[in-house]
Amino acid sequence: MPSREEKLSTIQKIFSGSKGILAADESVPTAGKRLESIGVPSTPETRQKYREIFLTTPGIESYLSGVIFFDETFRQSLNGKSFPKLVEEKGIVPGIKVDKGAVDSLEFPGEKITVGLDGLPARLAEYYALGARFAKWRAVITIGNNIPTDGCLIKNAGILAEYSKNCLDAGIVPIIEPEVLLDGEHSIEKSEAITTKTLRITFNSLKNLNLPLNEVILKTSMVVPGNKSGEPMDPSKIAEATVRCLKNSVPAEVGGIVFLSGGQTPVQATVNLNAISKLKPLPWPTSFSYARALQGDPLKIWQGKDENILAAQAVFLKRLKLNCAANRAQAEQSSYDGNRGEYRGEE
Ligand code: 13P
Repeated sequence: MPSREEKLSTIQKIFSGSKGILAADESVPTAGKRLESIGVPSTPETRQKYREIFLTTPGIESYLSGVIFFDETFRQSLNGKSFPKLVEEKGIVPGIKVDKGAVDSLEFPGEKITVGLDGLPARLAEYYALGARFAKWRAVITIGNNIPTDGCLIKNAGILAEYSKNCLDAGIVPIIEPEVLLDGEHSIEKSEAITTKTLRITFNSLKNLNLPLNEVILKTSMVVPGNKSGEPMDPSKIAEATVRCLKNSVPAEVGGIVFLSGGQTPVQATVNLNAISKLKPLPWPTSFSYARALQGDPLKIWQGKDENILAAQAVFLKRLKLNCAANRAQAEQSSYDGNRGEYRGEE
């Protein structure tokens, strides 16, 4: 019987101080797209090298409490040490993305269903044995003409609940990630309404299975206007809408909430996190769990060249530092330049 204490202690570690999670869990095709964007062919070796930049940056343990891996990366190693072991030795909790992607739904045209429940208990048992203490499952919610439908939201929510149950039975903390995409012409009000509805349906479905919500982490999109809406990204408006949405939909006993960056620029993701932190205290611990907003700039600097690795790592570390500061709401301090999302004197 997996221990409840271990799962609670995993959550405590994840939300320790102002640290956050690196989402280094892009699937092979997505990692390939990232590499191709800098003209590097995608092979197991180049993907390994890309991950190494982040995992071997000196000092990450001061800012990262967790790293989410993908199956391929979870099994890769450096100098005989597996990647999960490498981060675990730095006091960072290894996690694993276990869904097998979002596919077009036949039942709900224009919407997606996330798959991967088949054989999940056996996979989770193996990941646990290899060191994973938390997992992630992403559902994709698109806002458009007459979508999302309640039917598709309920379907994805049921799958998220089933996944969570499997994780908890395996001693693994589930991160549930129903991501409401920012793509589209919708207003911030529409984004708030859809995100609130999505989260309510999701937590109802977890409650229907009687799952202990204090052993579950929510990974959510911030409430932002659609990227084709023409509305500005106003940090205080985004923070107010996000916090109101979460308070209206996420039970207080949930173990914690982390935000994804979802296509925001690295600076926007930091500034908006900071604006949210200014509204603390909240009923749950909160932090960041970014992929693109942490790795995007270092990727561009690296360009696949060894001589650029140190510069890429410096930018990565700086962005981690800024996000931890944002998570402590350090914009209260006069050294914070909200327009640039940067802290003077930290260059
Ligand atoms: P982004 O921060 O790039 O949105 O990625 C986070 C994530 O884990 C998506 O599933």
